[in-house]
Amino acid sequence: MASVREACTHVVGAYGLAAVCADEPGVIAVARKDSPIVVGAGETGAYVASDVIALIDATRDVVVLEDGQFAKLTPAGVEYTDEAGNVIEPKVTHIDWDLDMAEKGGYPDFMLKEIHEQPRVVRDTLVGRMTPAGELDIDELGLSLEELNDIDRVYVIACGTSYHAGLIAKNLIEGWARIPTEVEAASEFRYRNPIITPTTLVVAVSQSGETADTLAAIRDARIKGAKVFGITNVVGSPVARESDGVIYTKANKEIAVASTKSFIGQVVSLTLLALLLAQVKYRLTTKQARMLFRELSDTAEQIQWILDTQTEAVHEAALLCKDAQSALFVGRGMGAAISYEGALKLKEVSYLHAEAYAAGEMKHGPIALIDPGFPVIAVATKSATYDKTVSNLMECKARGAKVIVVATEGDEEINKIADCIIRVPAVRDVFSPITASVPLQLLAREVAILRGCDVDQPRNLAKSVTVE
Ligand code: AGP
Repeated sequence: MASVREACTHVVGAYGLAAVCADEPGVIAVARKDSPIVVGAGETGAYVASDVIALIDATRDVVVLEDGQFAKLTPAGVEYTDEAGNVIEPKVTHIDWDLDMAEKGGYPDFMLKEIHEQPRVVRDTLVGRMTPAGELDIDELGLSLEELNDIDRVYVIACGTSYHAGLIAKNLIEGWARIPTEVEAASEFRYRNPIITPTTLVVAVSQSGETADTLAAIRDARIKGAKVFGITNVVGSPVARESDGVIYTKANKEIAVASTKSFIGQVVSLTLLALLLAQVKYRLTTKQARMLFRELSDTAEQIQWILDTQTEAVHEAALLCKDAQSALFVGRGMGAAISYEGALKLKEVSYLHAEAYAAGEMKHGPIALIDPGFPVIAVATKSATYDKTVSNLMECKARGAKVIVVATEGDEEINKIADCIIRVPAVRDVFSPITASVPLQLLAREVAILRGCDVDQPRNLAKSVTVE
């Protein structure tokens, strides 16, 4: 046990460790950092796993090990110690889930379980991505630094939620790396004649890695000479196999039809790609990249804060939406991209019609929709265009809209116009999609539950679309 404790002081990164030693048969030494480890002792022995579900046939009393805690398992039971080797009394949780609940990690549905997994997805997607010297490490890129440096145009191609991740990537790649970037629905891209040269990078984003339109677009782009880079959640999927390089999003299997955790994994992965391109193009220094990487990592805890504190606000917002015929999502910049995804999520799980608009476009048509009680859901986190979005919301309010705002913690000004506020922690605007998308996922699910919908299996939809 002492050797494992000592070894852990030298290990960098996230791990869940179960070690055995030939000299000490019958002992398993267990440690963790940022990765789940669950320990339990039953009548037939002591057990360790990465998930409660693996233990419930053997014991219902489990200990979810915390960072800095160690467990020594023997046939007689388990001893828990801290980093200094002192014996501690762990927190035992009694699991009274049935098998169905166990599969869902104790949550009522997979969608909620997967939303709650997002802090872990952020951490896992980032593990090992920055070297101690401050260099980004994407070794599976499949392109040399020279080839990356030559890139002068980027197309992000994807469908549905993955397309929305692409909209966020455009802001990042153009903002940091200054490379012209277009985002296109794969179903459009494949049937037109885009300008592609050997210095074009096509980034294909697909949770399943098998969406028919995205695959067809990749093949077409390769024939035309582009370099193709895949971002997918499924190891060995067609998108991974047919791309020059790939980043895996580490969301693990996503079961709910509505993408949530895989979207967050995509946005984090695309952020890494944008940082790398910016570094290769000498637009960001190592110091800047390291600072941004640290802030990107912090979003894991910031998502957790939203999950821990905003449930009531989300419920209140859902009550304002549940009987509506339609809802409008608005925002500017990153807020617009988040709004498109929020509207898609609401449509697909609650069957409530929703549209998203860049807030500045409201006066060009959509504002005609607003009448008393119409729900307007705004992403108005603090950014350079915050005041503009607030003035758009005042126009909605003046016409009787119910205004629901995803706003930055500590922003009191928004209290004057919002009927309901869902708070998110203050983050740099470029990282706001990772935090501000979460309340909209929760809102879509809550509205769907209030309307009696099956949030995991919405009608007419399949998890992956392998035909045109
Ligand atoms: C999102 O909630 C949807 N289920 C859907 O839009 C999905 O994102 C789209 O079909 C693309 O799937 P992919 O990421 O597996 O390619």
